[in-house]
Amino acid sequence: MEYSSRFERWDDLASVRRTPRRDFEPGGPDLYFPPELYPVVLHPIVAARGEAVVKGLLLQRLYDYLDFTTELESLAVIPVATKISRGRSGLILPERMKADAYKIVTDEAWHAQLSHDFARQIAAETNCPGLRPEEAGPPAFLPRLDALREQLPHDVRGVESLLFTIVSETLISGILADIPRDSRLPRSVRAVVRDHAEDEGRHHVYFRSVLRHLWPALTPYERRAAGPLVPAAIHAFLEPDYLQTARHLRSVGLTADESDQVIAESWPPSAMRSAIARAASPLTRYFTEAGALEDARTRASFEEAGMLTGTLRFTEVPTPPREFAT
Ligand SMILES: [Fe+2]
Ligand SMILES: [Fe+2]
Repeated sequence: MEYSSRFERWDDLASVRRTPRRDFEPGGPDLYFPPELYPVVLHPIVAARGEAVVKGLLLQRLYDYLDFTTELESLAVIPVATKISRGRSGLILPERMKADAYKIVTDEAWHAQLSHDFARQIAAETNCPGLRPEEAGPPAFLPRLDALREQLPHDVRGVESLLFTIVSETLISGILADIPRDSRLPRSVRAVVRDHAEDEGRHHVYFRSVLRHLWPALTPYERRAAGPLVPAAIHAFLEPDYLQTARHLRSVGLTADESDQVIAESWPPSAMRSAIARAASPLTRYFTEAGALEDARTRASFEEAGMLTGTLRFTEVPTPPREFAT
């Protein structure tokens, strides 16, 4: 299977090689995250608490985003990319592709380190730290991924790590798209996200190629076991972190009932389902091209998740909807 590398000019293009280290620049705007991407702050119950509370919650959302990045890279993507680089992924891949995986490991380690450092710098400058580790839970994708693994037969477990990495690496460039363009945000925040987005554009192409190699390499039994869980892996990555949001809402004085109401009304399940299906449509196309939907249960699972609407018109790659937030 042919492989066309996007890493030929990695030394010139990768953020870890090309740009100076990004530090937080204090004194800029105090809006840290686009409110439209965290719609709980637009809910009347939250908005009534005043601008300072809203801005404080948006700062917390930025911390969550940075922590999510560090966890995702460190716990999900780097282990998989390392296995690919060492020829231990279980896949037969071109030498060039395995060599490129080292560059992805380096990129992701840099994203994790930079996100961690950047959050600490913001906390020091603003004197508004994020939740303490004992207050905050793990990012939602981790327990969701654990639950997904439990649904797999024992002899197929392990494939979900590769699938989840394919899912996250092909969808992350979409969710990073809006922030660099938002002039209401501090310049250094936008620059950090822009650097990350540019690297992830290359990773997207790479992991699309990994999927092309993975699916035919699975046995029919493995495909039947793993295929129906792909929409759940997409939801694990793209659904908002409801529990963490509830913690933030409670910390600004909302009751448990108010917090539940704000979350339910800000992210109505049916609207979320449609938004996720739209955001995932390029990936649905990749799984279709790889032959994953030839299995009836897998196809039914995508259909049930609302992901097959318009699959016949895959002539363009849609951008994720504005209201979308991770
Ligand atoms: Fe990354
Ligand atoms: Fe990546």
